Amino acid sequence: MKKIAIVPGSFDPLTAGHADVIRTASSLFDEVKIVVLANSGKTGMFTPEERLRIARAAVEKMKEDDGIGNVSAHVFPGLTADAAKELGASFVVKGLRSAADFDYEFGMAEITRRFDGGLTTVFLPSKPEFIHVSSTYVREIIKYGKGDDRAFAPGTKDVILSIAHGNAKG
Ligand code: PNS
Repeated sequence: MKKIAIVPGSFDPLTAGHADVIRTASSLFDEVKIVVLANSGKTGMFTPEERLRIARAAVEKMKEDDGIGNVSAHVFPGLTADAAKELGASFVVKGLRSAADFDYEFGMAEITRRFDGGLTTVFLPSKPEFIHVSSTYVREIIKYGKGDDRAFAPGTKDVILSIAHGNAKG
């Protein structure tokens, strides 16, 4: 049986840290599906469709640069557990940058398991160079035009800036 994992998140936008976790997951699972979901505790800069476009740009770049062909990106309107079922996944992958991430994600993993007992959450530690990278940080770089470009996931900077500037004009 194929080992399929989803990597759920709000991805507003997907960052270099997310891309690194996804790359690692692609070496552990037969298929990895990035899923853009709503986090009810957060309001966003990008629409779900824009986040999907950004995630797909990252997927394309992984394919071009590293020959990674088992990653795809999706958007889903409901629960992580329902997205996993819809996409045929038995695993949920989350990256951890800190003990605070662990506290939050440990609770989310248990909620997800209660929704669907067949789902196992797998935590992957962030590499030191990505510990301070977050979607919030990338949004600040976009807003103020300052900061470290290495926070952008490879292949996403141009699409992110073109969407952000288009939104600012409109
Ligand atoms: O990138 P984030 O914001 O940490 O991702 C959190 C996300 C979107 C994965 C989480 O909020 C989520 O699973 N949302 C979908 C709804 C759901 O399944 N909630 C869990 C139980 S309340």
